[in-house]
Amino acid sequence: MTVDRGLAPGEEAPVPWWQEAVFYQVYPRSFADSDGDGVGDLAGIRSRLADLAWLGVDALWISPFFRSPMADYGYDVSDYCDVDPLFGNLAEFDALVADAHALGMRVVIDWVPNHTSDQHPWFVDARSSRHSAHRSWYVWRDPRPDGSPPNNWVSAFDLSAPAWTFDEATGQWYLHMFEPAQPDLDWDEPAVVDAMHETLRFWLDRGVDGFRADVVHGIGKDPALPDDPPDTAGVPHCALNDVPVTHERLGAIRTLLDAYPGERMMVGEVFLMSTETVATYYGHDDELHLAFNFPPLFAPWLADRWRDCIRTTLDALGPRGAWPTWVLSNHDNPRHRTRYDLAAARAGEDPATTVRRSERRARAAAVLLLTLRGTPFVYQGDELGLTDADVPADRVVDPGGRDGCRAPIPWDGTPDHGWPTREGAGPWLPFPPDADARNRAAELEDPSSMLHHYRGTIALRRGCPPLVRGTFDLVDTSDGVLGYRRAVGSDAVEVLINFGGAPVDAGRPSAVGADLLLTSDGVEVTGSFTGVLGPDQAVVIRG
Ligand code: NOJ
Repeated sequence: MTVDRGLAPGEEAPVPWWQEAVFYQVYPRSFADSDGDGVGDLAGIRSRLADLAWLGVDALWISPFFRSPMADYGYDVSDYCDVDPLFGNLAEFDALVADAHALGMRVVIDWVPNHTSDQHPWFVDARSSRHSAHRSWYVWRDPRPDGSPPNNWVSAFDLSAPAWTFDEATGQWYLHMFEPAQPDLDWDEPAVVDAMHETLRFWLDRGVDGFRADVVHGIGKDPALPDDPPDTAGVPHCALNDVPVTHERLGAIRTLLDAYPGERMMVGEVFLMSTETVATYYGHDDELHLAFNFPPLFAPWLADRWRDCIRTTLDALGPRGAWPTWVLSNHDNPRHRTRYDLAAARAGEDPATTVRRSERRARAAAVLLLTLRGTPFVYQGDELGLTDADVPADRVVDPGGRDGCRAPIPWDGTPDHGWPTREGAGPWLPFPPDADARNRAAELEDPSSMLHHYRGTIALRRGCPPLVRGTFDLVDTSDGVLGYRRAVGSDAVEVLINFGGAPVDAGRPSAVGADLLLTSDGVEVTGSFTGVLGPDQAVVIRG
């Protein structure tokens, strides 16, 4: 399978920045705290920008920092055009963007178009009466004759709960694909479209380079609100909603973005488990610039499964000229290192072995993420090899059970790990395990650390056109090994990854003797490829 961009041999098209970039997701509450309240903030992010530039990332995606009652930690927005005082203010945001740009990094911010907070003035007005000015901005329906919700849609965090809440005062149900505190906007109402476009302009005018659009496939709903099929019982409606009108709405958003200079972009969260369907949200280069594709994120650490995911992704996106994204972790799911370790333990891996393999697997996964064809997104802390925090029951705060992956970044080995809090109470969530040893300062000192491995792999990628924009071909390997070739003309590299815990002949006789450019377990790389991969080892060799 060869994928290319329809260019003549040797011809190079200008590549938009978001196709070449390595993105880094910042979850602001847990990144860095400047004021000692135990919650990270914009000034904290700004104070660490030089560290991110050192790592080599090209763009930041910053999760929500807008005014919010924090029922969903910022994904419940009560003012799209202001910074929540917990995180700072607009001047601090402007300073953050200016500093990031000065360091050569782009800034992409979250945008939450599917729902607002129930404390947003629009919803406060909407629920005040059936005749209020904003009533039509949300999805209201009468009860069914037996008083039950209008349909069988299930909400995201409590799969036993309807995606509807009954409003006693006005006698109707309102729709919320997530928490009751997150009522869905009704994009059939033209005033909603105008108002939400205005929120995009607000931030574009302030100089952001783009948006990560939250559950963006939700902005079109079937006006008949039909029941979800019986065979999807227990699946939240947000994982099923896929309606043609959404594509028109994304087209209008694309036109708005493209009217701004500077290649502003949007990466959409399309939480649908079919990659073929996700591909449709790129339109024909006239909807989303990029879309997240979740099946690889949920794929187990197995060579065959990854080969299938890659093939499916490139086959679905290639014919549209759509550019893939690759994500291993984010703020909504256990970190990949944690997932792979748990799966290995379930599969019977000896716990003593797991301790050793865990780090090696995570290092190999970094090579995979950063060498596939597409735009990689690194989740904050993955570059330190963090695993999820163990969050005791009395410290659980998230309605969706996602606290573990949101643990604060340990910056150093001091008792507060760089989070000195005013009351001495510590940050809002516990630190990940081993923060005394596994923290940025310690890893910076150790050239063999995960941090240096990420930096080295990002640097290799940046200096290697085949890895940034080359063609992609899977190559034949022995079992348990994934291999692919990336090339721009005759400039080619090959990536080989051993998903198993024992040394293996890679099954690439033609690669024996090729120059090694990177090994996932090596500090300094010299020499040539012997044909054998070490346990859990990834290598990049000259093709
Ligand atoms: C997806 C976001 O990533 C998640 O954190 C949030 O809870 C839901 N959308 C609702 O906004």
